[in-house]
Amino acid sequence: MLSKFSLTALAVFSFCAHLHAQIKTKTSSAIDQKVDKLLSQMTLEEKIGQLNQYTSDRLSTGPLTPNSTKYQEIKDGKVGSMLNVRGAKETRTIQEMAMQSRLKIPLLFGLDVIHGYRVTFPIPLAEAASWDLNAIESSARVAATEAAASGIHWTFAPMVDIARDPRWGRVMEGAGEDPYLGSLIARARVQGFQGKGLGNLDAVMACAKHFAAYGAAIAGRDYNTVDMSDRQLWETYLPPFKAAVDAGAATFMNSFNELNGIPATGNAYLQRDILKGKWNYQGFVVSDWGSISEMVAHGFAKNNTDAARLAITAGSDMDMEGHAYLTGLPVLVKENKVDVALINDAVKRILRKKFELGLFDDPYRFSNESREKKVLNSAQNHQAALDVAEKSVVLLKNDNQLLPLSKSTKTIAVIGPLGKSSNDMKGFWSVEWENDHLVSPFEGLQNKLGKQTNLLYSQGCNINDTVRTGFADAVATARKADVIIMAVGEAFNMSGEAKSRANIHLPGVQEDLIKAIKATGKPVVVMIMAGRPLIFNWTADHADAILYTWWLGSEAGNAMANVLFGDYNPAGKLPMSFPRAEGQIPVFYSSKNTGRPSPNGQPALYRSSYLDIPNTPQYAFGYGLSYTNFSFADLKLNKSQITKNDDVTVSFTLKNTGKYAGEEVVQLYLQDVVASVTRPVKELKDFQKVYLKPGESKTISFAITREKLSFYDQKMNWTTEPGEFKLMIGNASDHILLQDKFELVD
Ligand code: GLC
Repeated sequence: MLSKFSLTALAVFSFCAHLHAQIKTKTSSAIDQKVDKLLSQMTLEEKIGQLNQYTSDRLSTGPLTPNSTKYQEIKDGKVGSMLNVRGAKETRTIQEMAMQSRLKIPLLFGLDVIHGYRVTFPIPLAEAASWDLNAIESSARVAATEAAASGIHWTFAPMVDIARDPRWGRVMEGAGEDPYLGSLIARARVQGFQGKGLGNLDAVMACAKHFAAYGAAIAGRDYNTVDMSDRQLWETYLPPFKAAVDAGAATFMNSFNELNGIPATGNAYLQRDILKGKWNYQGFVVSDWGSISEMVAHGFAKNNTDAARLAITAGSDMDMEGHAYLTGLPVLVKENKVDVALINDAVKRILRKKFELGLFDDPYRFSNESREKKVLNSAQNHQAALDVAEKSVVLLKNDNQLLPLSKSTKTIAVIGPLGKSSNDMKGFWSVEWENDHLVSPFEGLQNKLGKQTNLLYSQGCNINDTVRTGFADAVATARKADVIIMAVGEAFNMSGEAKSRANIHLPGVQEDLIKAIKATGKPVVVMIMAGRPLIFNWTADHADAILYTWWLGSEAGNAMANVLFGDYNPAGKLPMSFPRAEGQIPVFYSSKNTGRPSPNGQPALYRSSYLDIPNTPQYAFGYGLSYTNFSFADLKLNKSQITKNDDVTVSFTLKNTGKYAGEEVVQLYLQDVVASVTRPVKELKDFQKVYLKPGESKTISFAITREKLSFYDQKMNWTTEPGEFKLMIGNASDHILLQDKFELVD
C-alpha cells in the first residue's frame, strides 16, 4: 500500500501532468481564452504578483507585518488583491494605483463580511438557530448587496467549520455541530452571497473556510492541533465544504491548523487530492492570514521560501499577508524547485474570477459612491435584519407561561450588565462603523412600550466583575417592578477569533446577581447574550423563563422586545449542544452507543458515564420552545422493507394545540442499527419548519432516499448496507415523539 506521502507526491505529479495536458487540450470558454492570452503576456514576477495579498492600513485581522512598500508594489503589478479595504472611494483610490501597472490587472478587494456589512445581522451561529434556510440566504443576500455597493468583490465567508467545542471562540461564526444542517446552511450562504452570479453588481465572491477541520482544535484552543481519523474528517468536517463546492463557491480559504501532522496550508491531500482533484474545484484557494509563513513555526518548513514551496505545491493559490510568495517563488522557479505550471494554474484561477467579476471591463464598477449611498443602511435592510434576529432567538424555558409578557404590565425592571449595551449587540466579526447605532435591549423595550410602562434599569454588576457592590441597587430596583428582565452574558469580544475560554460559565458574578434578584420572589425572565453556548445550571433550574439571544445585530433590542411581548412567537432551535460542565466537552447529539451505554445517560457502575453529572447536555441539539404547543401523531411509512433503489415515504400529522400561531421545526433522525462500522445513535437527516395557526393541523412528509442511509464503510467507500433502520421524529434531538423502523434488504 503506498504511503500517504507517496500518494500525495503521485497526486501532485499527476496534477502537473494533467495540468500540462489540460492547458493544451482544454476547450476554453471565452474567459479562459482571455485568461490564457493575458497569462502569455505576463512576466514571472507579474504572475507571482497575482498570488500576493496585503491588508489595508485601516485594519489588520491578524499579526501585522510592517510594510511600507505595499502601494508602490501595487503600482508595480506585484499585488493581486487587498483585504480590509472598503468603501467606494477607498477602493477606487487603490484600484487607480493598480491601473498604473504595466498590464493594468485589477485588484480583488476582500473583506470579512461575516454577518452583515453596513446593517449588522445576527452572528452566524444565531442565524443557524433559526433553521430557516430562506432567512439565512436573505441575510447573506443583503450583506452582499451592501458590500458590493461599497467596492467589495469578495467576502471571506461562509465559515463552514463544524464545531462541537464551545470553548473555541469561533463557534460564533459557523453553523454548529451537525454536518447535515451545516451543509444546508453552507449552501444557503454561498447562494446568498453570490446571488444570480458573479458579475452582477449585487454579488460578491463567497469563500468557504477554513479548509479543513479547524473547528476540531484540541481543547477548544484556537489554532491548536487537529488530529482525527479519515472517517471523522469525511463524515463530519468535509460535508459542508462539499456543499459549498456544489453551490458554486468562488473561493476557498485554508486553515491555520495542522491536520494529522500536516498544516492545512501545505496539505496536498486536502487541497489537491480532495478539493481540486476528487471534487474538481475550479476556484482558487487563499491562505489564511500568514498561514503560509506560519508553517515555519509549525516546524513543517525550514524558512519562508521553503514554506512557499510547500504551499504552492499543495495547492494554496494566494498568499494572504504571509509575505512568502512574492520573495520566495522567483527563487524556487529559478532553482527548479517549483514547476511554473503550478504558478500558472494559480494565476489562471485568480484571473478567471477577475474576468467573471467584470473587472477587466471596468475595474471601478463596484466603486460607485452614488450607488453606495442609495443601497447601504436602508430601512428595508434593517427590516430584514429584524426578521432574521427574531427567528434566531431560542426560548429555553417558560414556566407557567410567564412569556409573552403583557404590554399593560405597569413596571418592568431591566437588570444586568448588557441591559443598556448597544455596542455588544454587534458580536465579533462585525464591520466597524463610526457612530454606528445598534438597538440595546433597554431601547428595544422603550421602542415597544413607549410611556405606558414604567421601565426601570439597574446594571447590578459588570460582565467580568468579582465584586457585588451593585447588587443592592439592583435588588431595590427589582422590588419596585412587577417583572424583571435580566440581561446577562459575555461581552461581544469574548467569542470570535483568538477568543477561546476554558471556563464558559456565565462570566463574573452574574449568576449570583440572578440569584439575588430571584430571591425577591418576583417573576424573572433571563435573556442570555453570547457568541457560544454558556454554562448556567443554577439559572436553568431557577429562572422562570430563559431566552438565548446570542448577538442579534443592529435590531437586537427590537427583536428581543417583539419576542418578549409575543409580537413574534420564538421558534429557534439550538444548533449546538449546551454542556452542563466543561468536563463534558465535546458533547454532541450524534454520539455512539459504546459497548456499555448508561441508561438515559445517568451515572451508573461499569457504564459509560460520569460519577458526578449525567452524560446528557443541559440543552440538546435541536431544542427550543414556543409560546404554543404542537402534537405529533399518526406516523405512517409507505413501506417497512425497501431495496437499495426504493425510497421510504414517512408522514405524520402535526397540530398546533396551543393558543398562539407559531412555527415548529420538525426533525427527522435515523439510526443504522447494525453496520460494518458503528453508527451514531441518531443522525439528523431532514427537517421542516412549519407555521400553523391555533388548532390548525397539517400532514408532514419526508422522503428517505438511499443517500440518507449511506455511510463510509471500513474501506471508506460511501455505501449502504442491508439491515434495520430506526426512524425518529421529534422537535429536538432529545425529544423524539414518533418512532418506527424499516428494513433495507439486498
Ligand atoms: C483571520 C481569519 C479568517 C479571516 C482572515 C482575514 O485570521 O482566520 O477567517 O477571513 O484572517 O481577516
